[in-house]
Amino acid sequence: MTRLIPLCAAVIGLAAAFSTTAVMAADPVVIKFSHVVAENTPKGQMANKFKELVAEKTGGSVVVEVYPNSQLFGDDKVLEAMLLGDVQIAAPALSKFSRYTDVLALYDLPFLFKDLDAVDRFQQSEQGQMMLDAISKKGLIGLGYLHNGMKQLSSSKPLRVPDDASGLKFRIMSSEVLEAQFKAVDAAPLKKPFSEVFTLLQTKAIDGQENTWSNIYSKKFFEVQPYITESNHGLLDYMVVTSKEFWGGLPDEQRAQVKEAMDEALAFGNQVARDKAVEDKQLIAESGRTEIIELTDEERTLWVEAMKPVWKQFEKEIGADLIDSAYRSNDTGSVAAN
Ligand code: LMR
Repeated sequence: MTRLIPLCAAVIGLAAAFSTTAVMAADPVVIKFSHVVAENTPKGQMANKFKELVAEKTGGSVVVEVYPNSQLFGDDKVLEAMLLGDVQIAAPALSKFSRYTDVLALYDLPFLFKDLDAVDRFQQSEQGQMMLDAISKKGLIGLGYLHNGMKQLSSSKPLRVPDDASGLKFRIMSSEVLEAQFKAVDAAPLKKPFSEVFTLLQTKAIDGQENTWSNIYSKKFFEVQPYITESNHGLLDYMVVTSKEFWGGLPDEQRAQVKEAMDEALAFGNQVARDKAVEDKQLIAESGRTEIIELTDEERTLWVEAMKPVWKQFEKEIGADLIDSAYRSNDTGSVAAN
């Protein structure tokens, strides 16, 4: 009996060791995907689709955890957190990379792209694709672009001509170009996190903000802003990023499966973006909570004339050739020619 006890203990110990190894071998790779918007937005839906596709393609050996609504990190912290290994995928707006690179500021230039088709032509061009590498020196990899859409101006006052914005406080993303854009119409821009915008508007700490129909709808900005000017004056798009360390550490097969899932999720999200720009505008209009102001051609021209000088201001940092190529993508004949 006394000899049996150590024998049993040894057998149990051995079994435990084996089962731990088995569990360890089966432990899935976890990808934390952190973002700041609601789930019923292009980015929210893309992230959820990515999670589904990764599960399917990797047979569960990679698990995606999606954290929407700034639950895990705001965009001001997420890239640092990524470099520390606390999050593996994020998709900040292109306006939020200024600490990492100058060139992505291109996408913030007011009235640069006339619509998402032009944006697609530029992003799919050689120059557009090269810009995904703009952050590689900082240890980050751009996995692809995702659309949200064209931005509109919401405000406590009707904005028909640039003078109407004079003296008003607008929340902006952390971008020098956006700062210059609002200064160009004598407004006061304030860089604030997305998670604070609703409260800032509700408490009237600020007068207005610029965003897409889907963000204005999903975050209820339209409930606290009596006017929205359909200005389509700028673009809100994203770069999906991961860290070189995480990406390089994935076995080749898994990396290929995850990349395939990402490409499919991006195609899906880009279609959601196009649909939501129409649907969410309609829902806002039907709510009766806000007035949507359509600009006449003459009024729109005044906004273009007031804001376009910002291009010159940033020409050195961004590159005159790049600005020119991006602008030429408005021409339907320019298919990925750059
Ligand atoms: C914003 O801060 O307004 C946007 O970048 C939010 C988002 O991710 O669409």
